[in-house]
Amino acid sequence: MCNIETEQKKKVLSCIQPSGMLTLGNYLGALKNWVNMQDEFDCTFAVADLHAITVRQEPAALRSQIYSTYALLLALGIDPEKNTVFIQSHVPFHTQLSWLLSCNTQFGEMSRMTQFKDKSAKHPENVNVGLFSYPVLMAADILLYKPDFVPVGADQKQHLEIARDIAVRFNNKYGDVFTIPEPYIPKTGARVMSLQDPSKKMSKSDDNVNSWVAILDSKDDIIRKFKRAVTDSEACVRFSEEQAGISNLITIYSAVTGKTVAEIEREFEGKGYGEFKLAVGESVADTLAPIKASYEEIIKDKKALEQLYKEGADKACRQAYKTYNKAMKKVGFVL
Ligand code: TRP
Repeated sequence: MCNIETEQKKKVLSCIQPSGMLTLGNYLGALKNWVNMQDEFDCTFAVADLHAITVRQEPAALRSQIYSTYALLLALGIDPEKNTVFIQSHVPFHTQLSWLLSCNTQFGEMSRMTQFKDKSAKHPENVNVGLFSYPVLMAADILLYKPDFVPVGADQKQHLEIARDIAVRFNNKYGDVFTIPEPYIPKTGARVMSLQDPSKKMSKSDDNVNSWVAILDSKDDIIRKFKRAVTDSEACVRFSEEQAGISNLITIYSAVTGKTVAEIEREFEGKGYGEFKLAVGESVADTLAPIKASYEEIIKDKKALEQLYKEGADKACRQAYKTYNKAMKKVGFVL
């Protein structure tokens, strides 16, 4: 008799907010890894639309961004058959579990969240309770699906830590309900900085549009933005801490072409910044062009898109419901 071992894939979960245009930074720093993880892991990916309203959103713009973010995930090559790909607000258990977790999270520990401090300083006119309790909702997003790993960037590490703390505490108090997720640090993943101020992360909320490249920017815009990118005074293409601007461009070029830093330095030895910037702009535009083309096809067919996100929500609901029910029962609710 043969013994067929069915190896269970490890589970991964991540979410992305639909606030504004997704950038080259989102792509190279996170989304490209999502695409790469689909074969090795059992993946759950969501558009975290509920998180987006912690800052003010114009309703029509929010709606269109939710659609476009979902479509973009598909355009990147994330397969909705193989993975669970859904819109967070379609699965009511996120907000419901968030209440249970909120009552098991201390005000003091939440007050330490550095992102809350930054964001409330940035929007002093709208320091809402949702902005404060946002990491609890994020913990619910994660814990409902029992992932082994959560890929997060540096800015979300503290939130993942608190999700783990909440889960450990809940399990100790009520019995085993949640899996304790580990942070996942991908093998490749570029930290892309602003093209205008390389000391800051590339961000779509930067008022200077030349500082960031959207995944859906036109080829001309991409090339123009790279031509205008801030560089340094050394006038040679060499990666170093002192040359933050040129090093950022080398990081980007390396991420899109797969060439190593040494190969790039050799390729542009004795050549000027102008030539290098054009090469970076062109290779970024060439990398993003098929994604943009695929996005434009997908977004045209709202019916097909709707079908996919509904199926995604059904799949997600089935998993989330189990965890939520178990948690409710353990806390003492009558089901
Ligand atoms: N808070 C994350 C961000 O702003 C998005 C997010 C929401 C998330 N829920 C999550 C990320 C769960 C990982 C896991 O980038």
